[in-house]
Amino acid sequence: MERALLSLNQVNKNFGGLRVINDVSFAVTAGSRTALIGPNGAGKTTLFNLISGVYELDNGSIQLDDLDISHIPSHARCRYGLSRSFQNIRLMPHLSTVENVMLGQHSRAGMAGMLFPLGIGRNRWVREAEEALHNAGLDSYRGQIVADLPYGIQKRIEVIRALMAQPKLLLLDEPAAGLNASETDALLELLNRISEEGVTLLVVEHDMNFVSRLCQQVVVLNFGEKIFQGTPQQAQQERAVLEAYLGTDHVA
Ligand SMILES: Nc1ncnc2c1ncn2[C@@H]1O[C@H](COP(=O)(O)OP(=O)(O)O)[C@@H](O)[C@H]1O
Ligand SMILES: [Mg+2]
Repeated sequence: MERALLSLNQVNKNFGGLRVINDVSFAVTAGSRTALIGPNGAGKTTLFNLISGVYELDNGSIQLDDLDISHIPSHARCRYGLSRSFQNIRLMPHLSTVENVMLGQHSRAGMAGMLFPLGIGRNRWVREAEEALHNAGLDSYRGQIVADLPYGIQKRIEVIRALMAQPKLLLLDEPAAGLNASETDALLELLNRISEEGVTLLVVEHDMNFVSRLCQQVVVLNFGEKIFQGTPQQAQQERAVLEAYLGTDHVA
């Protein structure tokens, strides 16, 4: 039997009386790759914020493995194996690539362990960050200031940084937005490698071509409700999904 790593059970969220997430339930199997898609404003980022603990849910529950994480703080969710990237880049623009990657280690190292320059363990953290950059083919950017790097490289650095927490489940909010074709290919290669190493992926993405190349499962949100769950191929033939996208600039 396939084991669910993440399950959402009738999750609800209101903002000032407006229901933004409406009874959403779905599961993400351990080791799988799932896309969360839907028109702008559908509630995708809000759902990520609920899963990662940025927002508290109003009703329902969220399980990670066998643990109900609905009401535990986001830093604790991180320790239980949940890591994420944000829709807008949140790297420290004036720090170097390797320094940014090291910031992703804080949930394991503790801030003191990372920042105290003579700390015995410090070499280990530097080495680990450099190794991750090497494995992603990003060695050559190691010492460069992040603000000077192309957008596509920054997006990959963000993914590497999120991985430093050694997550079981990685949430990526529009990782391919704004990337050109070759940057998108490089990102896909990185995500495929991460997935092969056993990390479960949940990705918000508009580009159905990207989704088809990465994911086995698609969950579609529209006005805060789940309107479809299935394979990318099924999603592209599903009337309700096509209708949700009509009139938007994201028609696949
Ligand atoms: N903190 C907030 N306060 C009030 N409304 C919010 C907040 N965050 C999101 N919303 C609203 O929730 C809806 C869904 O937004 P969002 O989750 O960002 O959609 P998506 O990521 O699918 O484009 C939108 O109508 C948005 O205005
Ligand atoms: Mg969003």
